[in-house]
Amino acid sequence: MHDAPAAIVIHGTLLHTPVFGEVEVLAGALISVTSDGRIATVCPQNSPRHPEILSSAREAGTLTELRPGQYLLPGFVDLHIHAPQWPQMGKALEMPLNEWLQQRTFPLEAKYDDIDFARQSYESLVDNLLANGTTTAAYFGTVHVAATTLLADIAHDKGQRAIIGKVAMDNIDECPEFYRDNSTTAGLDGTRELIEHINAIPNNGRPLVLPAVTPRFIPSCTDEMLHGLAQIVSEYGCHVQTHCSESDWEHQYVIDRHGMKDTQSLDRIGLLTGKTILAHSNLIDDEDMSTIKARASSVAHCPLSNLYFSHSVFPLRKALDSGLKVGLGTDISGGPSPSILHNCQSAIGVSRALEDGVNPRMAADDRGTPESRIDFREAFWMATVGGANALGLKVGQFRQDFEFDAVLVDTGVAGSNLVVWENLDSPDDILQKIIYNADRQNIKNVWVQGRQVRA
Ligand code: GUN
Ligand code: FE
Repeated sequence: MHDAPAAIVIHGTLLHTPVFGEVEVLAGALISVTSDGRIATVCPQNSPRHPEILSSAREAGTLTELRPGQYLLPGFVDLHIHAPQWPQMGKALEMPLNEWLQQRTFPLEAKYDDIDFARQSYESLVDNLLANGTTTAAYFGTVHVAATTLLADIAHDKGQRAIIGKVAMDNIDECPEFYRDNSTTAGLDGTRELIEHINAIPNNGRPLVLPAVTPRFIPSCTDEMLHGLAQIVSEYGCHVQTHCSESDWEHQYVIDRHGMKDTQSLDRIGLLTGKTILAHSNLIDDEDMSTIKARASSVAHCPLSNLYFSHSVFPLRKALDSGLKVGLGTDISGGPSPSILHNCQSAIGVSRALEDGVNPRMAADDRGTPESRIDFREAFWMATVGGANALGLKVGQFRQDFEFDAVLVDTGVAGSNLVVWENLDSPDDILQKIIYNADRQNIKNVWVQGRQVRA
């Protein structure tokens, strides 16, 4: 297979983080991609095969030469995002979680009953995320089956890798009449319908789009719904995504209703699997961490959203050191940026604030939580490999047989904030500068499964 002519060969400098905390630089490398979008070979500059691969790609007209100042990076994984909240991104950030849900978010999400509005919003969302280099997104949809199947079709047509769930919410005590499943049965049937729809999308063979069972969070769901969803998970073996121990209100609500914490409750019900993504999880303790680890479930850390809705910072370093799988999420619109690079910056920043503390009136030694920081290499690993591991996808690094999901970053774009000094900046410096200063105009090309989805 690997000797078949490559459909694309890219010659240039590759930057990725296959090992946690380490940047690997492959200068002048050749990456060959098969016609079905997999990486056939990654050939370093000093390999004896390099000249031959280079000249045959040149002859075949399949060669793309990166210019100086251009770098190929793995595509970014957004492990937690609310697709319907796209029109709300960048506003309504000043209320507590429950008021924000009831007054702002549920009324917006209810509008996706209108399929034309849904189409307009979801097309704009997927285009914008691809332009920001997000090659994989784990999306919460709405309660509506039609709008959520449409989101799946749009992601598939535009070539974005996606995990998509119809949101389940049937608890009449927590969900308004204008926005909830018509009944528990309707919510469960709708979930099955979405899964069946996605599983039947034509040309979704090596799946680009995958379904997820998506209880919004325990407060939104009756126990009957949660158990019914667990049954669906056991039948289909699909992904699960939900919010876990996000805020004081939500964490306490679950303790009051179930007499235990979110993690224990989800586990008892059968919703913690190796394919479960728990958004936020700010308030999990050591016991929760060991349960999450034992079930091989993952956490989507959403650093920007933590500042607005969690009133606390997820103990990321502790989770990573405990062996939990963790990736990064934008949590649009709980987080106000669609860019995973911005969320890398924020993850680093909030980890530093957690480590040092933020109250200047406290003594320095009491102010923070020691050993909480992460650095840019670790943040980038979460944005690529961490997200991939959480979803069980062969993406996030340049490696033979992995999917070719990549972004071409151009540091030489006029009018951008990214300024590289050839003689001063090491490759690690360049990756750090990309994280801090690259914007969408620096993201020149984007490929998903070998298909150029943005030129
Ligand atoms: N908890 C339940 N629903 C939501 C939501 O839409 N956003 C966030 N951040 N938390 C939630
Ligand atoms: Fe969320």
